[in-house]
Amino acid sequence: MFGRVKPLDAILATAEKKSLHRSLGAFQLTMLGIGAVIGTGIFVLTAEAAQKAGPGMMLSFVIAGFVCAVAALCYAEMSAMVPVSGSAYTYSYAVMGEVVAWMVGWALILEYAIAAGAVSVGWSGYFVGWLHTSFAIDVPKELVRGPFDGGMINLPAMLIAMVVTALLVKGTKESATVNAVLVGIKILALTLFIALTIPVIKTGQFEPFAPMGFAGISAAAASIFFAYVGFDAVSTAAEETRNPQRNMPIGLIGSLAICTIFYMLVAAGVIGTVGAQPVTGAAGEALSPGTPALAHACSAIHDNAVVCSKEALAWTLKQVGYPFVGWLIGAAAILALPSVILMMMFGQTRIFFVMSRDGLLPEFFSRVHPRFHTPHVITILTGVFVTLFAAFFPVGLLADVSNSGTLFAFAAVSIAVLVLRRTDPTRARPFRTPVVTFTAPLAILGCIYLFFSLSFETIALFFGWAALGLIVYYAYSRSRSHVGRGLVEVHEGDRDTPPQPVPPIE
Ligand code: ALA
Repeated sequence: MFGRVKPLDAILATAEKKSLHRSLGAFQLTMLGIGAVIGTGIFVLTAEAAQKAGPGMMLSFVIAGFVCAVAALCYAEMSAMVPVSGSAYTYSYAVMGEVVAWMVGWALILEYAIAAGAVSVGWSGYFVGWLHTSFAIDVPKELVRGPFDGGMINLPAMLIAMVVTALLVKGTKESATVNAVLVGIKILALTLFIALTIPVIKTGQFEPFAPMGFAGISAAAASIFFAYVGFDAVSTAAEETRNPQRNMPIGLIGSLAICTIFYMLVAAGVIGTVGAQPVTGAAGEALSPGTPALAHACSAIHDNAVVCSKEALAWTLKQVGYPFVGWLIGAAAILALPSVILMMMFGQTRIFFVMSRDGLLPEFFSRVHPRFHTPHVITILTGVFVTLFAAFFPVGLLADVSNSGTLFAFAAVSIAVLVLRRTDPTRARPFRTPVVTFTAPLAILGCIYLFFSLSFETIALFFGWAALGLIVYYAYSRSRSHVGRGLVEVHEGDRDTPPQPVPPIE
């Protein structure tokens, strides 16, 4: 089962042959990380976390941030040691073999494509709210929410997913400058939010702290984990990083630390001002976010609770008496969230591209457009799916499903670090995970704990997806795999080159 391993040296030779300009430093990497991380999680899912945990969501942010931090320390060792495209998929191929790599790649489809759908839905919530405040335009709920969320189809979410797909086909890669501007906008928006809410916090709002018990806090942590997803995008830039050995770990852990501090303060601001108690059913029962039951209960109170809001931060500021700043925060979200969608979809196309180049997915996936020089086939295919997810599913469900794939991939990377320390102890490790015998198992256990704190439907969907993945692997990919056919190719660049047989590497 673990037999088909892609030799690490062949992977590294690929990286060395590449002539991508190494231009990114620690600061740019940290900005890249923050650019990919801050998005729907904090702007939108704060409301869902409140519905699951009440004020205890503060603790949920800490738990999710902690699991990400230990996983990031493992990620950093791998990404500094194997600075090539494909992140968790490529690491797993080198360490645990093809089947595991395939499953990780398959799970990364959940992480990236479904996350892009989730952020599109999050964007739609802010866009609809902003249209209302700016021009008093009220689009009927049926057209701006999916069927599970009290509507029929989410048109704005579809629109933004299609626009981002078109940009990617045309070859839009976010420039470092645009990213820096958008990161600045997001940081400014969150800072304004914190500055206006923290001073008017009422401590009474924090009680009862955990109305849904510790189970609620765990469930919210598993969902809010989404707010941290994306820091691994930093690792995909390893080939363009100056001195990746030093700068990668700084970029990964730095962006995570900054985001955690912001999230804690924003959550405190929401809870302390407008309160964060869950809306319950008639019999006091818990209602899950993104369900018709909650949509109904919210309608009954005219959406007058933060847990009912699709634009939690803008809504909170309006309640506190700063409608104009609320409007500004809405504008910031509308401007900045599309770049998160772009990063996620870009990450997805890269993973597909590498898998297709390895022969595990059809070769036409990695076909490159003659004029735009982009992998247009796979980009459009990804775009179609993202648009469909965005049209029909609620943000919380999409985020949870995306988390299930991400947690699986993070656990795989943490295992890979441990395995490689045993099997290849002398290889140069520019960054070593501190106390790996403790950190890596903690990351693995943390991922397992969060995974099983997800809702039953999410876990079932994940296993269904994994089973489908195994069927595709054994029916299609296994016999076509380049490694399986004894072809280990070295690529000069991201364009595909015909595989060349090379002698096995000792
Ligand atoms: N962390 C990203 C977000 O919250 C995916 O939107």
